Parts: sequence; structure tokens; C-alpha cells
Amino acid sequence: MAAANGAHKDRTALIPFSSRLREGRALAQDVWSIFNAANLPADCINLGQGYMNFAPPKWVTKAAEDALNTVSPNHYSHPRGRPRLRQAIKNQYEKQFNRELDIESEILVTSGANEGQYSVFTAFLEPGDEVIMFEPFFDQYLPSVTFNAGKPVYVPLHPPAHDQKKPTSNDWTIDFEELRRAVTSRTKMIIVNTPHNPVGKVFTRTELENIAALAEEFNLLVMSDEVYDCLLFDNKEHVRIATLPGMWDRTVTVGSAGKSFAATGWRVGWLIGPPSIITPTLAASTRIVFCTNSPLQEAVASGLEQVNQHHFFETQVKEYEERRDVLLSAFDKLGVKYTLPEGTYFVLLDISNVAFPVDYPFPQSVEGRGRDFKACWFIALEVGVSSIPVSEFYCEEHTNIGESFARFAFCKDLDTLRAAGERLQGLKKFLV
Ligand SMILES: Cc1ncc(COP(=O)(O)O)c(C=O)c1O
Repeated sequence: MAAANGAHKDRTALIPFSSRLREGRALAQDVWSIFNAANLPADCINLGQGYMNFAPPKWVTKAAEDALNTVSPNHYSHPRGRPRLRQAIKNQYEKQFNRELDIESEILVTSGANEGQYSVFTAFLEPGDEVIMFEPFFDQYLPSVTFNAGKPVYVPLHPPAHDQKKPTSNDWTIDFEELRRAVTSRTKMIIVNTPHNPVGKVFTRTELENIAALAEEFNLLVMSDEVYDCLLFDNKEHVRIATLPGMWDRTVTVGSAGKSFAATGWRVGWLIGPPSIITPTLAASTRIVFCTNSPLQEAVASGLEQVNQHHFFETQVKEYEERRDVLLSAFDKLGVKYTLPEGTYFVLLDISNVAFPVDYPFPQSVEGRGRDFKACWFIALEVGVSSIPVSEFYCEEHTNIGESFARFAFCKDLDTLRAAGERLQGLKKFLV
């Protein structure tokens, strides 16, 4: 009787969840929660997740306060984004795209770059459509594609040769024959990310021209993730693939206020592209989030309006160059090889020479993952600096390429980076 009315039935998981979660790796414990501050010693210096330990500029947070104290920005915005922000994006980017941008049909404000990218996938993918992405890839791409019934196809960026003395991010290369072989009759899109997380690679004009030629030949939609477009070092040139001949019509460019204004929690991003891409994406985005939070759109608009008068992006690049150099000089002193990043706020350290005891008390969460998971855990516990294992940014079959590297984020103040640099010298005794 009791069993018949379900009294003894296990009621903790009555409703099966969608298999999409598994396909999108959403059930595997993600790297951010494994290497989360809560799991690491309290005094561990966090160079793991890519967010700043400093505030956005005062004149931007002041604009946020003002917006909160005004009635209209506390309410729904137009799903395209607030007109003031779209106008500010137009003013800031028009020149860089060598064309006039129409704020009604060519700019869409999104809830962070993530939601914008998700909405593009929703708008364009049919079940089984293939999306090419370069490995290592920003981990969010995978679930965003599979949740929308697409199929990720991976093409590795090849790391510099082991015996290369001082590799730069430009030494991570694309094998264009391999890329061509990855294209099938089901390929719909290719994702380009420049400057690239986590390699720091700034794609060259020639590389982008080759990708563009392939996109043209096979009629591919190009998603150009340029969220780090204001973080290029050593006067490197940022080439927008959308500006190459013929590419505007098939390219959507992705931007993020989170990266530009040290405001990753604000969740304001944007897409720039032709009406043929923006209009369907707007339809998807409207039904996913309806609109992006209004007060922070106003603040970002105000920020973009003021960047020139504050020489903000120029100053910010110099500050990041200094942060990068503090961390790199610590690696140099330690004598461990790294990839010199030309953009972003990440640097890949070659951890293949870091030896750790096999019987070290590793938590369950890093067992069965790439060697880099253990190395990063070991470094965090033994020297007190956290980083992110790079195999997380590879598909399972290519884990071996990523597991030689740990990603350190230098979007931190100089004192923190100096302290991390000193602690990292403690790795010396574990190098082989
Ligand atoms: C390459 C890349 N694309 C997109 C994003 C997401 O940006 P947002 O925080 O604006 O959603 C990130 C964030 O780390 C990123 O590294």
C-alpha cells in the first residue's frame, strides 16, 4: 500500500533533467568552482578567475549612482539597448569599423558578451549545425553551442615548440589545412577570438584574411569575439575581421563593458553587425532576457562618452603592461617558461617542469582531470597563488595539449602581483 502511493519512493530526483546539461559539460564541476577562493586556503592570492581586484573608474561608478537616482533607468529598456548607450557605442566604434553604424539595426546591447553570443547561436543554429572554435577556447562557448543544439568542432592553436626559448602568443599557430579539413557541409559558423583568452594571442591580418577566405568559400557566419579589444600591448594592431573585404556581411563582432571598464559583474556587452545578423539575434535576445539591466547601461554609455577626455584606454593599457611585466619578471626570476601575451590580461605558464608528489592529498575534484589540474592545485596550496588549468579550455581528446599550461590572470593591483611574484619563487624547489 505504502509503495503504491509512493510513500517510500526516493523523492530527491523525481524529474529527470535534460541531457543537454551533460552534453554542454554543465554537470562536470567547472574549473571556476574547483579553483574557487572558498576551496583554497584563505590567504591564497587569486590569479585564477579573470576579474579585477580594483573598482571601475570613479567617473563610471558615479554615472551608475546617478542612473540609480533617476526614474527611467530603473525600468525596462528597449531590447535593442538604451539609445544613449547605442549612440555611445556608435561614436566609439564607427571609425574602427570604417563605416557608419546604424544604432537601430547594427548595434545590439546584450547582458554581457555571453548572452549576446548565446543569442546569436539561438538565432542561427539548426540542430546538428557545426560551429568551429579554436582551442584553447573560452569555456562558455561549448554549452552555449550545445544548448542550442549545435555541434562544437575543435581546431587547436598549436603551442610553440618545446625548445623555443622565449615564445610569444604569436607563436601559437593555426594549421590552415587542418582548419579547412574541419569544415563540412554542416559547418555554419566559426568563432574567432582576438585578443585570445587564454593564450593572449592577437590574430594577425594574414591569419584573419585566411579565415575570411574560408568563411567566404563555405558561406560561414563569423562570430568575432573581441571583448579584449582595448587590451593590446606593445603597440600591437587590433584587426577586426569585419573590416576585411566582404566580411561585414557575415560577421558579428562581440564587445564587453566588463573588460573595457573593469566591471565584469555589470553584465553589459554588445554586438555589432549587419541587420541580417542583428535582427534575428534581437528576436532571440528579446525572448531570452528581454532587455539588459538599465542603470548600468547608462553608466557604460557615460563611460564611453568620457573615455577620450580621460585618455582612459591609453592609460589602462599602460597600467596593464606594468601589471604584466611585474608577473613576467617573477616568472623570469623563477626561470620558468611562459608565453608572452600580446593582449588580454592572461599569461600561460609552462608547468611541465613543476614536479609534485603523486601521493599529495589532492581533492576528488581534480582526480581524473588533466595533469594541469593537479599542478595548479599543488601550486595554490604549496606557494599560495591560484591559477587555472588550461586543459579546461580543450575538448577531452585534446587535453594533452592543454595540460602543460596554467593560466595566470594579471588583472590585479601591483601590490598583489608583486606579492604573488614573491610567493611564486617558492616553486623553485619543485622544478625539475
Ligand atoms: C573570450 C571571452 N569572451 C567572452 C567573455 C564573456 O564576457 P562577459 O563577461 O561580457 O559576458 C569572456 C569573459 O571572460 C571571455 O574571456
